[in-house]
Amino acid sequence: MATKEPILSARDVEIQFSLRGRKLTAIRKCSLDLYEGETLAIVGESGSGKSVFTKSFIGMLDANGSIIGGSIMYDGVDISKYKTEKEWMTIRGKKIAMVMQDPMTSLNPLKVVGKQIQESIELHQGLKGEEAKKEAIEMLRKVGIPNPERRYNQYPHEFSGGMRQRVVIAIAVACRPQILICDEPTTALDVTIQAQILDLVHSLQKELHMTVIYITHDLGVVANVADRVAVMYAGQIVEYGLVNEIFYDAWHPYTWALLSALPQ
Ligand SMILES: Nc1ncnc2c1ncn2[C@@H]1O[C@H](COP(=O)(O)OP(=O)(O)OP(=O)(O)O)[C@@H](O)[C@H]1O
Ligand SMILES: [Mg+2]
Repeated sequence: MATKEPILSARDVEIQFSLRGRKLTAIRKCSLDLYEGETLAIVGESGSGKSVFTKSFIGMLDANGSIIGGSIMYDGVDISKYKTEKEWMTIRGKKIAMVMQDPMTSLNPLKVVGKQIQESIELHQGLKGEEAKKEAIEMLRKVGIPNPERRYNQYPHEFSGGMRQRVVIAIAVACRPQILICDEPTTALDVTIQAQILDLVHSLQKELHMTVIYITHDLGVVANVADRVAVMYAGQIVEYGLVNEIFYDAWHPYTWALLSALPQ
């Protein structure tokens, strides 16, 4: 495991937002490596930069934000230098997909869910019409939605929170990305459902050979499924390493504080 080449390598990434004429640095010299088939957990308190940092891997920063330093090497290219949507579309969804924190905002309330999955398949996989529809139904089945043929024609509001989360995951993995980023909803789902979603992501990861970044507040998740963990604090990565090393040998005071907040 230790000698593998990373499939994505972020180095000294700096991200700024401009806000009413002022510059606000949200990410300060963050570095991490992703390895094939592994799970990286990113933990850290609210506002520490977990979403902003990972969104920069797919060019999804808010319009007032930009990467102002460092590099993100993926497939031999520094994608942090990408400027246009056209460039990002070669990566986003296709190679690196993200399940956003709020599943409701990533679904179109006016469109049946099956169509939304189908559109993603048509856009990225080049399948059309009936063929794409069949694949969309297959994806619904894969993420554990019963009666997928019937469910295909239902709207997001007809699904429970957990089921909606499954639909969003179906859209994300429909294009067989190499890397899946899951920004875990912290309050929206209850604990049992979150555990089921985690199981789902884990089994899809095995089946589709994906590398997963799991953003979470739950250190149980870190201990149970992650190979590596990055701890973020105030826009920086204050710990990064193999889970076993971090859990049993954490030296940073913030890591201790975070670990001691573990239930049990
Ligand atoms: N569009 C924006 N303009 C200005 N500041 C922003 C913008 N988006 C995010 N930020 C700031 O960047 C910092 C990091 O935010 P981020 O959303 O990455 O936190 P997070 O670790 O994902 O938190 P949470 O656990 O609550 O999701 C925060 O201080 C936030 O206010
Ligand atoms: Mg976030």
